[in-house]
Amino acid sequence: MISCPTVRKDEIRSHYNLATPFYRLLWGRHIHHGLWEAQEAAPIAAQRLTETLAQEAGIRHGERVLDVGCGMGGSSIHLARTFECDVTGVTLSPFQRRWAACAARWHGVAGRTHFQCDDAEQVDFPANSFDVLWSVECTEHLFDKPAFFRRAAQWLRPGGRMAICAWLAGSKTHDAASTKQVYDVCEGFLCPSLGAADDYRQWFEQAGLTVERSHDWTSRVWRTWALCDERVKRSGVRWLARLLDRNQVLFLDRFETILKAYQSGAMEYGCFIARKPEQADPTA
Ligand SMILES: C[S@@+](CC[C@H](N)C(=O)[O-])C[C@H]1O[C@@H](n2cnc3c(N)ncnc32)[C@H](O)[C@@H]1O
Repeated sequence: MISCPTVRKDEIRSHYNLATPFYRLLWGRHIHHGLWEAQEAAPIAAQRLTETLAQEAGIRHGERVLDVGCGMGGSSIHLARTFECDVTGVTLSPFQRRWAACAARWHGVAGRTHFQCDDAEQVDFPANSFDVLWSVECTEHLFDKPAFFRRAAQWLRPGGRMAICAWLAGSKTHDAASTKQVYDVCEGFLCPSLGAADDYRQWFEQAGLTVERSHDWTSRVWRTWALCDERVKRSGVRWLARLLDRNQVLFLDRFETILKAYQSGAMEYGCFIARKPEQADPTA
């Protein structure tokens, strides 16, 4: 795991409060990578990532889902519309909470979705509340990832699943240049740390879950950053970011770094499906 001790939680919150309208304008309703098959448009690729994760997780009609780090509610609304899931979305940003609630009303799923503004590292839910814990590109922002997975496993019913997509520290390259690339990504994108795929496997296991499937989607997602870099350069957003605050400029300046980090193997992009056993392990 590679850490960046200068990241603060209030900076993460204010980034999402400030940047959400720009994400919507420049990228679409999802604040996550696209999953490409060919040269299709970015919103199609971003939607494919959500749909592919839903397939991987085997989402079933009417399941209770907790969407941790729900952004503008893109995944929550998809799961509520397509599978009639009952979805609770949690975001650190009050602005995103309001946005997600409005979007759910717009899409006619206000009755099946509930959005709350909370810190996933502090909030609690009763045991066995959910069939699925879904989290796309949020665990990067958590400060104590193993503790989060241990707590979150309690919220799942026996047999429930976690479906996680995450930016990862690369598993093959460990030289100083790669470490610096990952550190720079953490700093620019406000990640207190990035775990490697094996770290995530270990955290699932320590939480009593079994990893059923995992995928390395790196080469299918990195096009995201070439497109984002191009759009930022064309749109003049960087100029606006300079007026807002230093963190927003650093964020935009690290788009090229993350693209290079994926291409060099310094970073990877992972998808994990982990299951809680049907029977509690008496030794756990
Ligand atoms: C990259 S966005 C992903 C949004 C959404 N999952 C999607 O795919 O569109 C990261 C999300 O994590 C949320 N987040 C970051 N730290 C969090 C925390 N400690 N508790 C709850 N949400 C958090 C942010 O507010 C934001 O919504």
